[in-house]
Amino acid sequence: MEIIVKENYQEMSLYTAEMVADLVRRKPDCVIGFATGRTPVGTYQELIRLHKAGLDFSGIRAFNLDEYLGIGRDMSKPYDQDQSYARFMYEELFRHINVKEENIHIPDGLAKDPDAFCAAYEQEISKAGGIDLQILGIGGDGHWGFNEPGASLSSRTRVENLTAQTLDDNYEAFYRKAGIPREQMPTQAITMGIGTILEARNLIMIANGSKKAGIIAKALQGPVTSAVTASAIQLYTGKAVVVLDREAASALRNLK
Ligand code: GLP
Repeated sequence: MEIIVKENYQEMSLYTAEMVADLVRRKPDCVIGFATGRTPVGTYQELIRLHKAGLDFSGIRAFNLDEYLGIGRDMSKPYDQDQSYARFMYEELFRHINVKEENIHIPDGLAKDPDAFCAAYEQEISKAGGIDLQILGIGGDGHWGFNEPGASLSSRTRVENLTAQTLDDNYEAFYRKAGIPREQMPTQAITMGIGTILEARNLIMIANGSKKAGIIAKALQGPVTSAVTASAIQLYTGKAVVVLDREAASALRNLK
């Protein structure tokens, strides 16, 4: 794994976007795994800027990591009623670039049979030839996607119960400002599994801010454990690049 430390969020985002753009230029029909959360927003803004400057996303295939169960791609709903990751991805990226609608895959939180949907999602990823590059953040409890503490490191796409910490973090980040009462926040999600993520050919993991410093040190330099599912990065055999700002890197030991 390669750890890159950038001075601030802006530089971290530019660097990450450039890695994604480089892949899109080299392989116009690449398969990209996208993540949600506040962390990748700067990267997506830079990708939008690059698109306006000519970067062509018309051939890419997109697979998102996760979605809350019970909400989803219902674009008829007003913004304040829908905090779905589908809406997030359209607002923050997809609507602003020329990715083709039929090439966008997001777990369907409104699926009638979520388990069947999860199995089909895995098949869709395989049919696309696997993921070339998976973008990842990290949750405050060390999760990737919504693989909460205790999730098997070989898990596949499935329904997961969200922990109190994740509900608190994500309520503060998204739901509160939309004026949605805490009781209405979904408590389960569909997520790619850790096993699914580890099959991607390249990973980029990003984190910023001092709040993430402790969990980043645990994930990258602590024991590999299902208690911190992102620690699975230490088992990963493909090319993994971790891009951090100085604050998120501040608890790492022996950085060169
Ligand atoms: C959510 C997502 C994760 C993301 C995490 C961190 O729980 N499911 O994929 O990494 O939030 O979010 P943020 O970037 O807002 O800290």
